[in-house]
Amino acid sequence: MRVLTGIKPTAMPHVGNLLGAIEPALRLQEEHEAFYFIADYHALTTLQDAAKMRQYRREVAATWLALGLDPARTALFDQSDVPEVAELTWLLACVLGTGALERAHAFKAAQADGREINVGTFLYPVLMAADILIYDSNLVPVGKDQKQHVEMARDMAIAFNHRFGEVFVLPEPLIRDDVATIPGLDGRKMSKSYGNTVELWLPEKQLRKKIMSIVTDSKGVEDVKDPETCNVFALYKLFGTPEQVAELAARYRAPGMGYGHAKQALFEAMETRLGPARARYEALLAEGTELDAALEAGARRARGVAAGVLARAREASGFRRAPRLPIP
Ligand code: ADP
Ligand code: TRP
Repeated sequence: MRVLTGIKPTAMPHVGNLLGAIEPALRLQEEHEAFYFIADYHALTTLQDAAKMRQYRREVAATWLALGLDPARTALFDQSDVPEVAELTWLLACVLGTGALERAHAFKAAQADGREINVGTFLYPVLMAADILIYDSNLVPVGKDQKQHVEMARDMAIAFNHRFGEVFVLPEPLIRDDVATIPGLDGRKMSKSYGNTVELWLPEKQLRKKIMSIVTDSKGVEDVKDPETCNVFALYKLFGTPEQVAELAARYRAPGMGYGHAKQALFEAMETRLGPARARYEALLAEGTELDAALEAGARRARGVAAGVLARAREASGFRRAPRLPIP
């Protein structure tokens, strides 16, 4: 089974991305061949600032490595290091009706906002299908929001195979519905769009400040509190050990504990969990050669697979397996 997923480099990853996407994907590398990439071509639909693009691409790659992606086992690469996906996007675009793209959630949402929509945004699902199909991917772990895109990729594979023969493997989405929705600083789903995120690699002081800004009710130290409705506790449950969580819950239910104490406990639990990885993250970015070596090895492996699948698709649809001239 080959597992594949991509993360867009549009910001520094946050705690929701860690628990909702990155950690589950890292567990999958234990049992499957995994291809994980930085979806920079997709990010370009919204991020059109070259300096930020360069920075976030590296930050996302360093995040994977700092958290335990093993580059000897899992291919980690930049989407744009496999330009074959852009070519496959064209072959797939020609077997897809525009209606399917007009029905895509992301496009409809952009339209509802009255935003000016670039053609890249419209074609987003086709590029994503090319990402998935070009590696003969079997399983695509994604959040619920991306399920429709994986289904569209499957539909494009079926349409192409129907017209040109069995070229593509049909992928299955692996929806993480067992993973809780991680709450943000205000208790709503943690999301860049709500501005309520805790970025993963904040320096210690800034991490503390963020945690101190979590919204709570106005109960005082002597009031008893309900842990189950508290945003601080909701995050603590994700970082504390079961004993620590039970202990803090008991303190909520008795007088004598203020929210400041709970926030301090959360800060310490997060620091324990993230501190060592942060040191590794900072070293990877500062030094750079290990990061580049991992990305280069990943790109080499990914490109080898992509070239073979693209050759199959080209030949099936009446083209030469490879262009006459090699890339100069
Ligand atoms: P954002 O909502 O901040 O833009 P993304 O859509 O870039 O986040 O997130 C990438 C992946 O991370 C999502 O597909 C989802 O699986 C996971 N994810 C993001 N936020 C959360 C969250 N609050 N709880 C659980 N998983 C999340
Ligand atoms: N669209 C995905 C997201 O926004 C990122 C992505 C791009 C992706 N290509 C992919 C995910 C291929 C899985 C497979 O989260």
